Amino acid sequence: MTEWSDYLADEAATVAAGERLGRVLEQCPQGLSLHLEGDLGAGKTTFTRGVLQSFGHSGAVKSPTYTLVEEYALPSRTLHHFDLYRLGDPEELEYMGIRDYFTGGDICLLEWPTRGAGILPPPDLTVSLQVQEPGRLVKLEAGTDRGERLVQQLAQPQ
Ligand SMILES: Nc1ncnc2c1ncn2[C@@H]1O[C@H](COP(=O)(O)OP(=O)(O)OP(=O)(O)O)[C@@H](O)[C@H]1O
Ligand SMILES: [Mg+2]
Repeated sequence: MTEWSDYLADEAATVAAGERLGRVLEQCPQGLSLHLEGDLGAGKTTFTRGVLQSFGHSGAVKSPTYTLVEEYALPSRTLHHFDLYRLGDPEELEYMGIRDYFTGGDICLLEWPTRGAGILPPPDLTVSLQVQEPGRLVKLEAGTDRGERLVQQLAQPQ
């Protein structure tokens, strides 16, 4: 499977990397699930802000720590940003009708996906962020054929 990685020197670079991925996601009309992995403060929400910006969102992106999910109904697409950090039991996802999020053409971005292990469908893409002072290292790995095409597109020179 193809991988793509980059060094992100500052916060703006993390936003720009999210925007770059967002432009590729726009080309894919099907539903997509993206897992965002990395320690507390690694940059997952910052990266999500870049993805949302590429779809036209201009406001802040608040981590839905207590509500677990925030919906962004943007002109071309609806995106759902999950933060499962405080999820007690993966079963809780069943009560919130988790399956419905993944059946249409929406894009789901999930922070702390390991909290939902066993219930969440396998991701098309896993975005890993790692603190590497003074910046961050971002790595993208495909989990499905759909994700594989996205990583290949992303790896093409811009
Ligand atoms: N490339 C970067 N270089 C330096 N700092 C960065 C970079 N990207 C993001 N940051 C900073 O890291 C901090 C944490 O970012 P963020 O909230 O996105 O992390 P997170 O992974 O979502 O954390 P959490 O697990 O708590 O939700 C922010 O202050 C942000 O500005
Ligand atoms: Mg976060």
